[in-house]
Amino acid sequence: MKKIYVFICMLVCVLMACKKEQQPTNELETEVSELLSKMTLDEKIGQLNLRGTSSRVKGQLPDSLKQAVRDGKIGAFLNVTNTEHVDELQRIAVEESPNKIPLIFARDVIHGYKTIFPIPLGMAASWDAQVAKNSSRVAAIEASSFGIRWTFAPMLDIARDSRWGRIAESPGEDPFLASNLTKAYVEGFQGDSLNDPTSMIACAKHFIGYGAAIGGRDYNTAIISDAQLHNIYLPPFKSAVDAGSQTLMTSFNEMNGIPASGDRRMLTTVLREEFGFDGFVVSDWESVEEMIPHGFATDLKHAAELSLNAGLNMEMTSKAFEKYTKNLLKEGKITETQINSLVADILRVKLRMGLFEKPYRVDKSDNLYADAHLQMAKEAAIESSVLLKNKNNVLPITTRKKIAVIGPLADKPREQLGTWTFDGDGTYTKTPINAFQSNNVNYNFVEGLSYSRDKSTKDFSKAVAAAKNSDVIVFIGGEEAILSGEAHSRANINLPGAQEQLIKELAKTGKPIVLIIMAGRPITLGNILKDVDAVLMTWHPGTMGGPAIHDMIFGIAEPKGRLPVTWPKVAGQLPLFYNHKNTGRPVIPEEFVQMDSIPIGAWQSSLGNTTHYLDVGYLPQYPFGYGLGYTKFVYSKTAVSSSTITKNNDIMVKVIVTNVGERKGTDIVQLYVQDVVGRITRPVRELKGYQKVTLEPNEQKEVTFTLSLDDLKYYDNQEKLNVEKGEFKVWIGQNSAVGISAKFSYE
Ligand code: BGC
Repeated sequence: MKKIYVFICMLVCVLMACKKEQQPTNELETEVSELLSKMTLDEKIGQLNLRGTSSRVKGQLPDSLKQAVRDGKIGAFLNVTNTEHVDELQRIAVEESPNKIPLIFARDVIHGYKTIFPIPLGMAASWDAQVAKNSSRVAAIEASSFGIRWTFAPMLDIARDSRWGRIAESPGEDPFLASNLTKAYVEGFQGDSLNDPTSMIACAKHFIGYGAAIGGRDYNTAIISDAQLHNIYLPPFKSAVDAGSQTLMTSFNEMNGIPASGDRRMLTTVLREEFGFDGFVVSDWESVEEMIPHGFATDLKHAAELSLNAGLNMEMTSKAFEKYTKNLLKEGKITETQINSLVADILRVKLRMGLFEKPYRVDKSDNLYADAHLQMAKEAAIESSVLLKNKNNVLPITTRKKIAVIGPLADKPREQLGTWTFDGDGTYTKTPINAFQSNNVNYNFVEGLSYSRDKSTKDFSKAVAAAKNSDVIVFIGGEEAILSGEAHSRANINLPGAQEQLIKELAKTGKPIVLIIMAGRPITLGNILKDVDAVLMTWHPGTMGGPAIHDMIFGIAEPKGRLPVTWPKVAGQLPLFYNHKNTGRPVIPEEFVQMDSIPIGAWQSSLGNTTHYLDVGYLPQYPFGYGLGYTKFVYSKTAVSSSTITKNNDIMVKVIVTNVGERKGTDIVQLYVQDVVGRITRPVRELKGYQKVTLEPNEQKEVTFTLSLDDLKYYDNQEKLNVEKGEFKVWIGQNSAVGISAKFSYE
């Protein structure tokens, strides 16, 4: 009796909870419909337009622009950073336009607004959702002060090719890691409530396949099978939708012949029908118009027809919707019902944001560069820095040593901020030199090269003299910010300019060299790796990069990042990623014959050969998931809780992790799975879990992961989600190339 009573109570509670949640949705939909019913066609079309002003416009706003807002012909703006303009445009919209529909102001707030965090690829190296969430919350607090309530982030393009400039903005190569971080970013940007004045609606971009650009050339074609689409490229977007991201942005590229801004299957079938997305989709900059050069639309009118029918809600900068929607309606090429639905999606978001009640920005500019923000940015730089090499434990530098600081990026306040940092103010940046100065480090700074591409050797002798007069050389180089990001792909991704040459000169002094890299992508190191003792990848570390680097190299903090991308030896290996297929001729390390070992005049034969390069072999420089710390961990006793997994029986996979080193340290324990045989072939490994553990010396911890059948499901090329009977291998290890394995099966 008691049990039944409890059950009924629970049921009532659940029903009440559902009702409670439903009610606002119904109210919201009623408000949307009421508003729509009052709007003229011109106003509806107006909501579909995203316009920009130049961020540097000082003086007066053009009258024509103000009139367009007054007439309800613009739905949102991007790049209006002059707050007087923001306020004036919003005032016109909510006081003078026919239905007083507020505007949304958008901006690319990608990894911080004023307080800049590490570039997104660096943030991904933290593998830490809390760190990601802090960064996007801080960005929202700072940017919303300026009226920016919509950011064009997070960028969720899985990237497998480090030549691609926008890998800097990406979450790396792994869908599982990317999806976890996505949720955190969206939650941070949007905050606890969309109608909080510090909430900034997120925009998951670029939908879809932008990261698969052929050869890493920006804007290039993507050819993606359905299985890859669903298993690799879509998961972060699904995660964004599930986390409540209010908007998405289409990409510039075509995928399998269809440009993203005209892809009905993606924008309607997948996004709306499968993912249940009810926010709005904006095009990328002129990507509607660019369907003409793509060879998909005959002219701008046709482009509008394709995009509107595909389900694109808002057009960024080009004017196809503005110019042709009415004609298309008259000609019956689109229907008013379609337009209403596209507009409703935008109104729904504006209502959720509370803009009708509180349209104006709340100035919290005393929060800019707040101590807490700077502290979080410093923490993020530490969590995302990856120690790649540390010969003879040259790091941390523990005793008081004389340091020669050399290199073009040791004191470059703007460069260390990285790509997409229009609003970051270099005068607030703390460079490594600033940090060494304020901590009274015994250092001598000779730049040697004045920017990363500098080829002049004129200051080499001064740098070498400083090096000779030191105990250790700290070389801080990499890429200037402009060498990665949009439209900044590189075919060679080694240290640019004469940096390698300078490092070689410095190596001749025999002093240990610590190479600190600030860059937007993995940098190939083959020419100099032997010459340096330690390599610390800090990516472009942001405003607080300097203090973070100071703390890491002196052991006050430990670099905690792990690679979110495979680090190649040479660009010729790209694209390169850990979750590749086995092939029919997988690598057999013992049988690999290096090019120079092939006898002259050898008879042509492929026997015994496998999928490798004759010259660089088959391994990356560093695998996905790799990163060192200042202590040593040993993994033992990997075990599965059962040899079979069933619908009702999840599997636990365990490992014992022991800190066998001499200092406290943090490791990221990684779980990988292989589905050995599938109806379509499966990757050699896939990340399915990870945990950050911090242990004192000699401390041990049992780390447990739970795997359910859902974790093993994958899409085939018929878009079917499967899990198939058979054997699975599982590894727990410190990166994607190692680990102790165990097996289980699904029967
Ligand atoms: C980029 C987008 C960005 C937009 C607006 C485009 O060039 O591809 O990522 O959000 O510009 O600045």
